[in-house]
Amino acid sequence: MSTEISIKRITAKDFLEKKKKGEKIVVITAYDYPTSMVADQSGVDAILVGDSLGMVVLGYESTLPVTMEDMIHHTKAVVRGTKRALVIGDMPFMSYQVSVEEAVRNAGRFLQEAEAQAVKLEGGREVAETVRRIVKAGIPVMAHIGLTPQSIHQLGGFKVQGRDVETAARLKEDALLLEEAGAFSLVLECIPKSLAKEISDALTIPTIGIGAGVHCDGQVLVFHDLLGLFERFVPKHVKVYANLREKMKEAILQYAREVREGIFPDDDHSFK
Ligand code: KIV
Repeated sequence: MSTEISIKRITAKDFLEKKKKGEKIVVITAYDYPTSMVADQSGVDAILVGDSLGMVVLGYESTLPVTMEDMIHHTKAVVRGTKRALVIGDMPFMSYQVSVEEAVRNAGRFLQEAEAQAVKLEGGREVAETVRRIVKAGIPVMAHIGLTPQSIHQLGGFKVQGRDVETAARLKEDALLLEEAGAFSLVLECIPKSLAKEISDALTIPTIGIGAGVHCDGQVLVFHDLLGLFERFVPKHVKVYANLREKMKEAILQYAREVREGIFPDDDHSFK
């Protein structure tokens, strides 16, 4: 008889239940096997394999160079590290903008090849039909509005969105259109917290905030930001919960010193 306890994976439907019950949803990004395992074992509700991969893991200046092949490769590793968290694959730039058919095919690759359970894509009303068609194919979609990093050249940089009356009204309309198209949740990135509250109150699907204040139904942070592993810049909305970069440096410095001084390997780490 197997003694293994089976762990039920969180689903997109559970996100809706959590909003109904007023339970906050915890999301974190991850890009590989060991870190997704740590996140999963810490009890987060979902892991987003974000295209932030391009900046925090691959060292690009933006998320734009990230390809479908990069995303599938890293999503496979993340799925192998998880048992409980919903794994959401982020659709990279140009994987869903050219045609709805290409978008559905690429979304399908996240589930079929990488075994993720949902996908995310950026944009408002202009992607509503794409969202509808991907959902129709049986693939849960997380939408994403506000600061959408794949459009930084159009937005003029990494800037807070929805500060004036017109763009705030447009973002609210976009949110309603994406819910209507079938998205199971909506990321709100870098918008004023009052607008995030208004949108969260207007929707039945949960909002997941990043730089959007406390009134969202859940929060997402980038793994490397939260743990002090990304040194290029720390955005205002990021709370650094630990400085692992310093811890890693200390450990590697100690290792290097011990090798140079003939302290490592000692007898405990050698074979007789
Ligand atoms: O790519 C990413 O990590 C994201 C989150 C910041 C929402 O899109």
